[in-house]
Amino acid sequence: MPLEVARHLDCRPGDICVDGTLGGSGHASNICDQLAPGGVFIGIDQDRAAVDHARRVLACRDVEVHLFHDNFTHLPDILSHLGLEGVDGILLDLGLSLYQLEGSGRGFSFQREEPLDMRMDTDRPRTAADMVNSLAEGELKRLLQTYGEERWAGRIARRIVDHRKTAPIRTSAALADIVTRAVPGKGAGKRIHPATRTFMALRIAVNGELDRIDEFMDRATDCLNTGGRLVVLSFHSLEDRIVKQRIRALAKGCACPPKFPICVCGKVPVVRNLTPKAARPTEEEIMANPMARSTRLRAMIKL
Ligand SMILES: C[S@@+](CC[C@H](N)C(=O)[O-])C[C@H]1O[C@@H](n2cnc3c(N)ncnc32)[C@H](O)[C@@H]1O
Repeated sequence: MPLEVARHLDCRPGDICVDGTLGGSGHASNICDQLAPGGVFIGIDQDRAAVDHARRVLACRDVEVHLFHDNFTHLPDILSHLGLEGVDGILLDLGLSLYQLEGSGRGFSFQREEPLDMRMDTDRPRTAADMVNSLAEGELKRLLQTYGEERWAGRIARRIVDHRKTAPIRTSAALADIVTRAVPGKGAGKRIHPATRTFMALRIAVNGELDRIDEFMDRATDCLNTGGRLVVLSFHSLEDRIVKQRIRALAKGCACPPKFPICVCGKVPVVRNLTPKAARPTEEEIMANPMARSTRLRAMIKL
């Protein structure tokens, strides 16, 4: 959704803007074009390969470019390291990049025979293989239910635990096979592969994805200048729920539950919600990229 991102982020020449999820640098490249001449671009990704790629793609722009291999939750520290008090725009495009899915060799795809790693940041200690080979059956079931909303979580967890009694599960293809055998009907004729939800749940758990969003939303407004904007693209309903609820609470002035029409603690709103209803990709965008179907865009502006 490049046009919607550009419209909500509203970067102008000379502004300071952050892309906290560089990925393949598609949005980063557009943002740098909008900031030129004279703006400052700060790019962050927890995947070292994304930062190396950005270094090549964003060279020779008419903007000051700072790139960091880091977690976007550390944005406040990065800003103080650069001597900046705030920025005019922040973009988070959450989830997995195409490179991670198809080119990283880290087992994100159930369609490939790769080591079952799934770490976006390979400095993190625990891989997906560590998790499937060590978590208790009940913990695995809960993980698949919570992060994957997997209907067959119990059966899949049991199969995983049975299988690892004979040999550890080391590859993405081996896990995909176990899950496919555990799901009744093997998903024949279904819209999504039977291992889709298991792989998504494990990836979210390995990378602590929901906790990082929660943590970031706590500090996002501190990083924005007055009039600065935050734009978040999410792919998963649980991510979108966190962002939606946080923006609504900030726009209402407090953390009182959203069902109260006026805030009972008397605090004033710190942001304006720019997307009371999430923006969605157009039919043409979905036709061009069917994976974009589940994308939701939310945005806020600091008052
Ligand atoms: C969907 S891709 C971004 C695609 C990018 N906007 C583009 O135009 O190509 C998500 C990227 O965010 C990174 N990422 C996810 N969570 C992160 C976090 N908490 N901190 C830093 N990077 C993160 C991933 O490593 C991945 O490269």
